[in-house]
This record gives sequence, structure tokens and C-alpha cells, in this order.
Amino acid sequence: MAVIWYPGHMHKAQKQIKEVMPQVDLVIEVMDARIPFSSENPAVKELRGPRPCLKVLNKSDLADPTVTAEWLHYFSQQEGVRAIALTTIRKGESRKILGLCREMVPLRAQRGEPVRTMIMGIPNVGKSTLINALAGRAIAKVGDEPAVTKQQQRISLGNGIVLSDTPGILWPRMEDQNSGYRLAVTGAIKNAAITFEDIAEYAGEFLLQHYPQALIARYKLNELPVEATALIEAIGQKRGCLRPGGVVDLHKASEILLKEFRSGKLGGISLETPAIFDVLEED
Ligand code: G4P
Repeated sequence: MAVIWYPGHMHKAQKQIKEVMPQVDLVIEVMDARIPFSSENPAVKELRGPRPCLKVLNKSDLADPTVTAEWLHYFSQQEGVRAIALTTIRKGESRKILGLCREMVPLRAQRGEPVRTMIMGIPNVGKSTLINALAGRAIAKVGDEPAVTKQQQRISLGNGIVLSDTPGILWPRMEDQNSGYRLAVTGAIKNAAITFEDIAEYAGEFLLQHYPQALIARYKLNELPVEATALIEAIGQKRGCLRPGGVVDLHKASEILLKEFRSGKLGGISLETPAIFDVLEED
């Protein structure tokens, strides 16, 4: 379920996270590896203050590994930041986080004090799945309520690391229209102003430009159309999404493209690379 964020939600989320922050030594910010720019919350830097931040590029099973490597390099240049790519669907992989957490807060670890961590991020990036994977049991209450609950419990992850059982839920980047589309393509947000067909068209246009081979292979197309609408029509034809009279049902065909992109059936695809910052500067 996706949340529509209003300024009131954002204010509340920020206020509640500020309240719990004094009990946090390290922030673990979870992002979607396919859209690290749009799924990063711009306020985390200010909210965490001098605390270190471990950026987790989650769902890396769905992203393009070459691009994920570029993002890891990009984030690791930032002060107080380390970055790791993960997928919570591979059991045990998330435990890699624990060693990094200890390294990033060496003083507490040396004094024998637990390193207090908190997971944050926008909805749908996999925060609850990660908490459950780290804890080895289902404890995170899955839900998209903005902000964090005050009744936080700490769970011990072993290795001197403790984790708040409730993630800090933050809003996605919204000032940029393209980010809105990319968030919608991955399913992170629902935006009443963008139709399903619009989202698929945005995805189609991107894939035609950046991952043409993935489209050819998945939909067994002999040649690729130039326009996204024609691509969606071709997908509809191939998959038999036809209305009476042989007209392609564009809604159904759009649904196929988005579903298959989201579930990784087109292969590892990243919608954003660090070069996005150059593009933004040019605007
Ligand atoms: P949130 O707390 O940040 O809101 O996210 P949550 O853990 O609820 O995860 C959102 C969706 O992303 C879930 O799928 C979850 O299974 C999926 N997910 C989490 N981590 C990964 C990952 O590393 N790789 C992949 N491919 N998917 C991941 P869902 O469709 O909403 O629900 P479900 O039917 O899978 O449970």
C-alpha cells in the first residue's frame, strides 16, 4: 500500500525522528538500489547530525549490478557514510551489515557498549523485511504509517548491535517530477495524478533508451519500436491482450510491463545512475 505524503505527515515524521535520535548511534538508511537518488531521503543528513550513516542499497537483485557498483562508490565518498548493496530475499545476506555497524561506531564497540541502530527510509524499500531478516523472526510491524511509533523496543542482533524494532518512515523525494515517475515505476508510491498507462509509458521510454536488449529478449520482438506507446502495443499483441475487434488493451499491456519490471523478469535494471546529479545541475 502506498502513502500519499502531505506536509503535515512530513512534519510529524521529522519531529518524531528527532525525538528518538539521541538514543541512536548509527542510522541505517534503506534505499531501493534501482532508484538510489529518488528513494534517498534528503532530510536524513540533517536528522542524523554527526552520527554515521550506513546506506543500504536494497533490492539489489532487481538492479543493474554495474550501476549499483557506481552508486556504492558515489556514496562512499560522503563524509560519515558507508554503503552496501543487499537483497533481503537471499537468506543471511543482511547479516553483512553487523560487522560494518561495529566498524562505524568504534568507540562504543571498544567500550563494550551496544551500538544502537535504527533503520530509516521511504515506504516500500524493504525496511520491515530487513528488520525481520536481521532479527531472524517477524517482528517489524509492516505498514506505511508515516513517522515512527514512540513505543520502540530494542532487539539485540548479537555482535554488540541493537536495533529499534520500528523503522523511521520518511517521505520520498518529491520536488522532481521525474523522481515521481521513477518511484511510481518501482511501485514505491501511488500518485493519483499519474495514470497507470503514464507510468508504463515512462518505463517503456526509459527501457527503449537504456535496456533495449532486455525488451527484445523478454518480449521476443523482432524489432523495437521507437515510441513507448508502440512498444506497449507490441507487448499487448505478443501477450494477446486484445479487446473485441483486435484492438490492444493498453491498460492490460501496461500492467504486464510494470509487473514484469517490478518482479525482475526483465533482468537487473537501474533507473538512476550517479550521473543524475550532472543532469540536475544542467537544468
Ligand atoms: P517497507 O517496510 O520499507 O515499507 O518495505 P517492506 O519490507 O514491506 O517491503 C516492500 C516490498 O519489497 C515487499 O514486497 C517485500 O517483499 C519486497 N522486498 C523487500 N526486500 C526485497 C529485496 O531485497 N528484493 C526484492 N526483490 N524484494 C524485496 P510486497 O510485494 O509488498 O509484498 P510481498 O508479497 O513480497 O510480501
